Amino acid sequence: MSTRNQDHNQAAPAAPQDLVRRFEQEFGSAPDGVWQAPGRVNLIGEHTDYNEGFVLPFAIDRTARVAVAVRQDATVRLLSTFGDQGMVTASLESLRPGAAKGWTKYPLGVVWALRERGIDVPGLDLLLDSDVPLGAGLSSSHAIECAVISALNELTGAGLGAEDMVLATQRAENDFVGAPTGIMDQSASLRGSKGRAVFLDCRDQTARLVPFETEPAGLVLLVIDTKVSHSHADGGYASRRASCELGAEIMGVKALRDLDVTDLEEASGLLDEITFRRVRHVVTENDRVLQTVELLAGRGPGAIGPLLDASHASMRDDFEISCPELDLAVDTARANGAIGARMTGGGFGGAAIALTPVDSAPTVRDAVAKAFADAGFAAPEIFTVSPAAGAMRIA
Ligand code: GLA
Repeated sequence: MSTRNQDHNQAAPAAPQDLVRRFEQEFGSAPDGVWQAPGRVNLIGEHTDYNEGFVLPFAIDRTARVAVAVRQDATVRLLSTFGDQGMVTASLESLRPGAAKGWTKYPLGVVWALRERGIDVPGLDLLLDSDVPLGAGLSSSHAIECAVISALNELTGAGLGAEDMVLATQRAENDFVGAPTGIMDQSASLRGSKGRAVFLDCRDQTARLVPFETEPAGLVLLVIDTKVSHSHADGGYASRRASCELGAEIMGVKALRDLDVTDLEEASGLLDEITFRRVRHVVTENDRVLQTVELLAGRGPGAIGPLLDASHASMRDDFEISCPELDLAVDTARANGAIGARMTGGGFGGAAIALTPVDSAPTVRDAVAKAFADAGFAAPEIFTVSPAAGAMRIA
């Protein structure tokens, strides 16, 4: 595991007109438009998406923004405001899985995936800006992909609906970037809405927006970015996915979604110990998502703390995707007043969330910062998030 530096994490996104101006300076003419798409926090439902189960993420108020112009030739030119690669040029014909580097994998992956679907994507100039921290488990890559696919869907007149855009960005991630991820992140980014979490059934992509507002309940949702980098193209994510597929196969079901907690006793007799624990995480996590949705509708966000805690314990002990920094963030937040906390996202680093009474938030922040310093860990970044709008055109 490595610790990320700050290079890509900008404090605030450029205003649309600044991005347009910068685009004109760099590319010599105006863009056809500017599109943005948010990162996401997953409230609960981790590693359930590729098991055709349930998730409850929401779009956050941090976004990737792309200014895009169609070109008359078959060239794609890409530039980011982070400036780490300079201008990157690729020809449409040369796009191949595995060939692109750094952040350019995400826009080029979307171009590639759309062309694979038979959509005639032309040459492009593209300028990217983002304030979604990279590698923090907040889906910075999907924010880029969703901004780009929103732009290209409109510019090519392809007319894809949310479901197809989700599948195309998943194809870009799986087959171009090489990360065997599911459909949760792009669904949150494309379908998110202010004050709402996206309750998604990953078997058939049916989605329902569920009110999730912390403020009226006197709560805030803190994100604790541990600064520990992770990549879903590394082996950990894929090996968990493989265990789930093995578990489903031995249990004779299409996907782990088809098991419920009453099947666990039988599973314990049929599966090896590790596969059983992986399966138990997914089965109990699906159940926790359904319980969370029910509680939010009834008693509100103040009632979901124990489910967040149980989700973290399950990821730490059964799915084994936490790390010392995430465990310390979660334990310290809880010991200092959070009513529930868990790691969020794929794991092996990234961020934790802590649902915290407004009054306790400063104590939680200070205590987590101190605990990290005492443990010799890099300073975490701690900020609040609330459910925000999904992808849209902004200029
Ligand atoms: C990553 C993936 C998602 C999902 C989560 C774990 O964010 O991109 O598809 O599998 O991990 O819940």
